[in-house]
Amino acid sequence: MKPSYFLYFLILIFATTGKTIAQSPEIASKREHLSIDNDWRFALGHAYDVSKDFYNGTGGFSYLAKTGYGDGAASAEFDDRGWRKIDLPHDWAVEQPFSPKGSFSHGSKAIGRNFPEASVGWYRKTFAIPASDLGKRISIAFDGVFRNSIVWVNGHYLGTEPSGYNRFEYNISEYLNYGGNNVIAVRADVTMEEGWFYEGAGIYRHVWLNKTNQVHIVPDGTFVTTAVKSNVADVTATATINNDDKKTRSFNITQTIIDDSGKALATKTTTGLTLKPFASQDIKNILTVSNPKLWSLETPYLHKLITTVEENGSIIDSYVTTFGIRTIRFDANEGFFLNGKHVKIQGTNNHQDHAGVGAAMPDALQDFRIRTLKGMGCNAYRCSHNPPTPELLDACDRLGMLVIDENRLMGVTSTQLNDLKRMILRDRNHPSIISWSIGNEEWGIEGNITGARIAATMQAFAKSVDSTRYITAAISGGIGSGISTVIDVLGYNYVATKNTDEQHKKYPNQFSWGTEEGSTVASRGIYEDDMDKHQLVAYDRKQNDFFYSLEQGWKHYASRPYLAGMFIWTGFDYRGEPTPFGWPSVGSYFGMIDACGFPKDDYYYLKSWWTNQTVVHLLPHWNWQGKEGQEIRVCAYSNCDEVELFLNRKSLGKKTMEPNGHLEWQVKYEPGTLEAVGYKKGIKAGNDIVKTTLTPNQVKLTANRKAIKADKKDIAIITVQADDKNNLRVPTAQNELSFSITGPGKIIGVGNGDATSLEADQYLERIDLVNIGAFKEKFVDDLNAKAEVAADYDDSSWQNAFKDTRDDEFGRKVKAVVYRAGFTMPADVAPATATLFSKNIGKVQNIYINGKEIGHEIKAGDGNTEFKLEASLLHPGNNTIAIVATPLLKANIWASVNTDPGLIQLVYSAEQYKRKLFSGYAQVIVQSTGQPGTIVLKAISPGLKQSAIEITAADK
Ligand code: GAL
Repeated sequence: MKPSYFLYFLILIFATTGKTIAQSPEIASKREHLSIDNDWRFALGHAYDVSKDFYNGTGGFSYLAKTGYGDGAASAEFDDRGWRKIDLPHDWAVEQPFSPKGSFSHGSKAIGRNFPEASVGWYRKTFAIPASDLGKRISIAFDGVFRNSIVWVNGHYLGTEPSGYNRFEYNISEYLNYGGNNVIAVRADVTMEEGWFYEGAGIYRHVWLNKTNQVHIVPDGTFVTTAVKSNVADVTATATINNDDKKTRSFNITQTIIDDSGKALATKTTTGLTLKPFASQDIKNILTVSNPKLWSLETPYLHKLITTVEENGSIIDSYVTTFGIRTIRFDANEGFFLNGKHVKIQGTNNHQDHAGVGAAMPDALQDFRIRTLKGMGCNAYRCSHNPPTPELLDACDRLGMLVIDENRLMGVTSTQLNDLKRMILRDRNHPSIISWSIGNEEWGIEGNITGARIAATMQAFAKSVDSTRYITAAISGGIGSGISTVIDVLGYNYVATKNTDEQHKKYPNQFSWGTEEGSTVASRGIYEDDMDKHQLVAYDRKQNDFFYSLEQGWKHYASRPYLAGMFIWTGFDYRGEPTPFGWPSVGSYFGMIDACGFPKDDYYYLKSWWTNQTVVHLLPHWNWQGKEGQEIRVCAYSNCDEVELFLNRKSLGKKTMEPNGHLEWQVKYEPGTLEAVGYKKGIKAGNDIVKTTLTPNQVKLTANRKAIKADKKDIAIITVQADDKNNLRVPTAQNELSFSITGPGKIIGVGNGDATSLEADQYLERIDLVNIGAFKEKFVDDLNAKAEVAADYDDSSWQNAFKDTRDDEFGRKVKAVVYRAGFTMPADVAPATATLFSKNIGKVQNIYINGKEIGHEIKAGDGNTEFKLEASLLHPGNNTIAIVATPLLKANIWASVNTDPGLIQLVYSAEQYKRKLFSGYAQVIVQSTGQPGTIVLKAISPGLKQSAIEITAADK
């Protein structure tokens, strides 16, 4: 609402109701959950050099000494105009180049201990709070900041959150400037890692402003559990209400279940509730839903619970909880049951990391990834090894995917137990979650008594928060001792070295599953090992004797009903852990799907045994020029009874498929067409064809979606390939492509699934901030001093500036001052767009750069302080700034005067996006910039016909 309309609205409310604004329930009491992802400023600070860390924490009385004393970049007054403009979610790690000095487990990005200059990130955002919000409870909620974040609002220190995976929320009601602007400042520090995999850096999840009545349902304050019997669901709904008011309040609570069309299915009201100041109460009711539509993998039906708080006839809070009605059950002999129906767990482990964007995933990317996993028959997702971004769980709820939600740290102090509790409270209403994992491969304790004690305590504690999920722990060794003797659902990490039958015999009542299996390493589309280039064949094979191949692993689980199923390590490739290589490989090879989402051949092995769809998949490609007459290993993944292979229409034999197996042939290479035909009960059921192609001739672009929302968040995922002149995709193509985009869209990242690629993920404008050196000063008669501002004026005899106290006495004595300082421009200053963001160091001042006046009679506080500097004005090396000013004086003896002249921002425009194809594919992620219209992405490559694709961005 525009301010003038808003004022009119307030007057109208006041006139018609006669109530004050704060009393009006329409205005004062409605819960608002506002996204504040857009319009942040970002700059890298420094891990230990305070001068490069915006002088935060350097004041004599700093933010830990005095309330509201956030200093440097934490202060509300800090000038962040030179910082980069960004929207969240944001991951600054993915923006960095690769370096052998980076952490190889984290993808060798140039962040972390060896890069103090790239390991602290600062974020600031200015936001308005209307005067009418006074009296509300207002908080700021971060879904996750990696890591060790410190947050200030208006210079008030709110708190520190060490974990990069916890959601945290701070009450800021008392600190706000109502009817004006407010500033959030966040400092994140990735010097120290949490996990051993790529974790990103910065505010990589959403941020929210929550506004409620002082009487309100607390964050994560509802809990819905369901029990289904004879076609009736008993839905137990609990709401935790707080009164943060300074007086006792009385109210009623109504809990209503609605279906997906909004129709109320059941409702209950609890009346006569009273809470004293700062008291809290749980309200619990059982609501009955007849003939409930159940949440299942095939039809993930979602209900909503609307909890409303009503006081004196007005609704003062309303809280929506999405949930599903379903039952889950483990059986020690038969595995897992959803709604009473047996489901073999066909799971994958995944980290939150995608090509191009790293950990900062747009919500639509979560959807894309879950859909891709479902496409191979995956029905379960293990959040290894941390609580995930909430929208991942929303996608699992919406699309039908079971989840193990995993705690990051194992332990029993309040640190670890609180993290576990926060995860459970945050996530307990997601129907997709069937298990809480308390830890993974804790080598130091998993096989000993300490591990058993810790696990037993964590398990009991988790159940005290939520008794409806099963508790698991993933174990790599020490089976038969330690954690494996106490955990409800034993999670095996890699069965090649374990005897699951023996453990089952010894603990016949223990539930069990494979929390990690596979560990196969493969490069998508590669069929000959190249150890020098770090490329590994995509045929399924075991990595070494500690692991099974995919097929061996799945056969182990498929043939043992007592094992509920398994989670492949991993669904998607991720940055870091480039096993069995190191630098210059930067990504993992474990995925069934590469880091972009392009399936490897393993995907089809699983799809053939994890889905009921007819699968016939042939590997390798058939481009073996130069190998004519040599034998090539050909495999077919299929769930047909028999598969027959044809080379150039000549049958090479029909073979019978063993359940959960695959078929293979040695085929003497001749170019042409290789075809596999699958038969079910003797009848042709499907086929797959690979053809020898010609060289790349044209670029081809396809999009996962041709229409996206014009909301600054939605994305289209573009597949890039090179086809030959017969329109066959060339599976060996490696052409480099350049991308340009027009219309209301931008490229937010590129990738190609090559674990060895050191190409940039993102091409961004570069911003350098240049500080102005220490000033010297000379007192003069007035603002007209001319000689002293010349570029080469000798100021060596001048005194250091600001030595004398700027009191009234100084004001009487000194009429004007010339300040001079140097600043250093880099060798490549010429192409940069330079701007001086100045701050007045005088009441009125003239500003000269290298002797040329750029600002005349600029008055303190008049806002005219941004000066574009012509390229001809600046030169590499030392430059001078001279400011002639009438002195600023202290308002009282405590006050200080501004001595900071501002800084110079250099902006270098972004290079064009580009990427090489890897085994014939690359990916470009395109995001809406907020306006409706047609986005056109164009791809060119020397020697290839170019291509363009249109994406429509629309308001709805
Ligand atoms: C497991 C571990 C995973 C991953 C994998 C790589 O031990 O739990 O997080 O590191 O090994 O092989």
